Amino acid sequence: MMQPAQEPSRAQLAAEVKRLEDILALERRRTSEFLAQLAHELRNPLGPILSGLEAMQIVGLKDPTLESLRELMRRQTGQLIRLVDELLDVARVTHGRITLEKQPMRVADALTEAIQTTRDLIAERGHQLTVDMPSEPMLIEGDPVRIEQVFVNLLTNAARYSPSGGRIRLSVSRRDGEAVVTVHDEGQGISAEALPRIFEPFFRSEAAQETSGGGLGIGLSLVRSLVELHGGRVEAMSDGHGKGSEFIVKLPLAGKRRDEGREPR
Ligand SMILES: Nc1ncnc2c1ncn2[C@@H]1O[C@H](COP(=O)(O)OP(=O)(O)OP(=O)(O)O)[C@@H](O)[C@H]1O
Ligand SMILES: [Mg+2]
Repeated sequence: MMQPAQEPSRAQLAAEVKRLEDILALERRRTSEFLAQLAHELRNPLGPILSGLEAMQIVGLKDPTLESLRELMRRQTGQLIRLVDELLDVARVTHGRITLEKQPMRVADALTEAIQTTRDLIAERGHQLTVDMPSEPMLIEGDPVRIEQVFVNLLTNAARYSPSGGRIRLSVSRRDGEAVVTVHDEGQGISAEALPRIFEPFFRSEAAQETSGGGLGIGLSLVRSLVELHGGRVEAMSDGHGKGSEFIVKLPLAGKRRDEGREPR
């Protein structure tokens, strides 16, 4: 007797889902390995190019047109290097190969550095930055370069995703043994659909894709990984499109870590 065509059993469906998941995971791993390799290969020639341009600056170019071209090339090369370095960082984080050089450091120092780094961009776009930093030291156990990178990314986003002439507010306070840093802007904001996804690698909202001078969508994924590697957390808030955004970073203060029980150094 002929059997009617059977629905696949639960076990068969589960096996099929597993098979597809494995294919996806493999593809994802291949893509991320390819990106890491690509970033690595791109990075190699960029170092000597930048050094060459810097050497020309030291020697001095007599022709002012050549000198301004050299400066333009130096700035653009610097930008390329930052981009490629961030791609390399994403690959390192994905493969757990990032190493932090932690030391007791002041949150304020990293913020001051980050403000310095983003000063030109903020000025270029005509934004006004207000900073509210208490005078107390607020020591954390952190890698100063990486903590600065976190705030450079957040300030860059605030500047990038605000129409020119916007207001950006950076404030720091101490709460429950943590340093709490907020970066607030009054820019294009983040829709409710995009909000849960913005920390994913390579995610960019539709609004951001229309913004010129945008990036690759890796800044926030790095921010989250770096903050978490420091035992902290980061969250984003926005009331939606056109309503501005706020990013809150919480970092455990030195000597008040959650994983207490270790001997303090
Ligand atoms: N302050 C902000 N205001 C509005 N949207 C934001 C803000 N910060 C981030 N976003 C949204 O989150 C997305 C991801 O941000 P992320 O910093 O990871 O990437 P990116 O800025 O696009 O590129 P890059 O890799 O150069 O940082 C952005 O594309 C944008 O859609
Ligand atoms: Mg960004």
